[in-house]
Amino acid sequence: MLKAAIIGCGGISWAHARGYEALKGRVEVTAVADVRKDAAEKLGASLGGEAYTDYEKMLRDADVDFVDICLPHKLHKPVILKALAAGKHAMCEKPMCLTVKDADEIVEAVRKSGKKFMPAHNQLFAPALQEAKRLIGEGLIGKIHFIRTQDCFRNNGISGWRTNRDEMGGGELIDTGYHPNYMMNYFAPAPVAQVFAMGGRYRVTMDGEDTGFVALKFQDGSMGNILSSWAFPVPSGGYIFSVTGERGELLGTHNLLVLKALGMSDARREWPNAKDTFIAEIEHFAECLDTGREPLQTASDGRDVVRLITAEYESMATGRAVSYGGSAGRQSASHEVVARA
Ligand SMILES: NC(=O)c1ccc[n+]([C@@H]2O[C@H](COP(=O)([O-])OP(=O)(O)OC[C@H]3O[C@@H](n4cnc5c(N)ncnc54)[C@H](O)[C@@H]3O)[C@@H](O)[C@H]2O)c1
Repeated sequence: MLKAAIIGCGGISWAHARGYEALKGRVEVTAVADVRKDAAEKLGASLGGEAYTDYEKMLRDADVDFVDICLPHKLHKPVILKALAAGKHAMCEKPMCLTVKDADEIVEAVRKSGKKFMPAHNQLFAPALQEAKRLIGEGLIGKIHFIRTQDCFRNNGISGWRTNRDEMGGGELIDTGYHPNYMMNYFAPAPVAQVFAMGGRYRVTMDGEDTGFVALKFQDGSMGNILSSWAFPVPSGGYIFSVTGERGELLGTHNLLVLKALGMSDARREWPNAKDTFIAEIEHFAECLDTGREPLQTASDGRDVVRLITAEYESMATGRAVSYGGSAGRQSASHEVVARA
């Protein structure tokens, strides 16, 4: 039985709680921590873990194999480092951290610790995305020319740390926009060569942008585009991806994948009972800890996303395209898919 602790008992911890409910008998939540005593006690009571208001005390005293970090963005890096130093495996909500330098520190700390670490890129566990990745790997649509990822909805209000650029590390693009960024990297056919980004604030009161728009070019000449917004939904719906290759296009959302192959009629596949991606990612991490397998995403993948987003923010601030130097873009199409069903 693996023993888990959740650090940060706010909104998203309750989505993670669904994962621990589903894994009862295999993973036991022995502790939870939040500076808000009421929040820690409520989640602790629901999952059966002891409630702490000081996560450092929890790391010292609680019987825990891995921590699941659900804290405001600025706290991710220090808490990842402290958890690893305390001998715990760790998974962390997005973004992994706020700067490339911090990402490098995390990559190095994970390597030195010998512990497992997974950035929690939950949307990669959507069945449509996994199937698209597999089909692209099999060469179904041929060489990739263009990738589009998107996550747009009308956010009816944010408060607290999310309104503050320092605590957030930016605006919407490093929050919800983080999902289409890691999706872009997951499908990327080659390392990133160049990034151009624009931000706008249309509706939400916050320091940073509430909408981000990105154009990318990869080193093999293929291109990508990211759109992410809290100001407006788009007709094609919340989150969506499309990958266009020389022989056709794959277009999907969580549980629906459409193949538009040139010269053939469209084919659709649906997963009406698709597993919740938070359940799937926690199950995957538990399996990695049990088997010693590397997680689908590692600290290096987290670094790639942080590098991409910081380049986007640099582009937004300067109004210019940002070029990646030689080996900096580590993205490749070689990441594995989750174990096949
Ligand atoms: N994967 C997704 O779809 C998704 C969705 C929403 C949020 N998130 C991510 O989850 C993380 C948390 O977001 P949220 O919406 O739950 O935020 P939240 O504000 O609801 O919760 C954060 C919690 O952390 C606690 N906290 C703050 N400082 C602390 C400290 N020093 N020690 C212990 N606890 C502390 C707060 O009291 C609060 O309960 C963020 O990284 C966010 O980007 C991911």
